[in-house]
Amino acid sequence: MKLAVSGKGGVGKTTFSALLIRSLSAEGRRVLAIDADPDANLAAAVGIEGADRITPIAEMKEMIFERTEAQPGTIGGFFKLNPKVDDLPDTLSARLENIKLMRLGGVKKGGAGCICPESTLLRALVTHIVLARDEVVVMDMEAGIEHLGRATASAVDRLIVVVEPGRRSIDTAAHIRQLAGQIGLEQIAVVGNKIRGPKDEAFLKTHLGDCEFLGFLPYEDRLIEADLEGISPFDTESEAKAVVRQMVAGL
Ligand SMILES: Nc1ncnc2c1ncn2[C@@H]1O[C@H](COP(=O)(O)OP(=O)(O)OP(=O)(O)O)[C@@H](O)[C@H]1O
Ligand SMILES: [Mg+2]
Repeated sequence: MKLAVSGKGGVGKTTFSALLIRSLSAEGRRVLAIDADPDANLAAAVGIEGADRITPIAEMKEMIFERTEAQPGTIGGFFKLNPKVDDLPDTLSARLENIKLMRLGGVKKGGAGCICPESTLLRALVTHIVLARDEVVVMDMEAGIEHLGRATASAVDRLIVVVEPGRRSIDTAAHIRQLAGQIGLEQIAVVGNKIRGPKDEAFLKTHLGDCEFLGFLPYEDRLIEADLEGISPFDTESEAKAVVRQMVAGL
């Protein structure tokens, strides 16, 4: 099962992804967790010790050079377009319980269609992970679907768009659906987060009526406190955790 999580900034993608990953692991599933958001720290939310010391793949200059035969940071020139990546999930992941986690990191944008060694390696890695790994894959992404393309779209079982009660979150969800449609990714589902009551739930249902809703997570101070204290949202009792655990049973 391959799941990708997207949504507007700050809606709770990382919180939801972390709850999902830990719930799957608690069910005894092997999980490959991919932190594809350069600005986020999924490892910390999952509860991996020393999360901030994990070097993102995009910054592993020697490895990228060895695999692509080109210096990272260069644009143009000749390098391998199909670098070997199949060993990376096992050798370069951080571990917790049944979870292997990889932090992809960011690639500096060099204009549309930029092809540089880093981006080529990351694209090859994500393609391999989506097409060939046999664990459950959960990818925490930005407000887009950057690393996915036509080749991988059909292997993604669900693109889960996290939304909160708010116009911009709805607009971003519409944009993500559009991007997904362009690569032929049709399996889209929505999770409502930061729900304060029936009105919030109704708002989302009204504006995203044609979407499949996987569930609604309540707004909870405990989740913010967990974030401030640097503990995984899974390691504090919350209703959201219970909802996600139920969701996992349904998936
Ligand atoms: N259900 C909730 N109730 C209250 N606070 C929440 C809830 N879900 C997430 N938060 C809080 O909202 C903030 C943003 O959450 P999170 O980092 O998961 O969002 P994100 O979408 O991954 O953000 P980014 O776009 O920056 O990666 C955090 O402080 C988190 O604790
Ligand atoms: Mg995040």
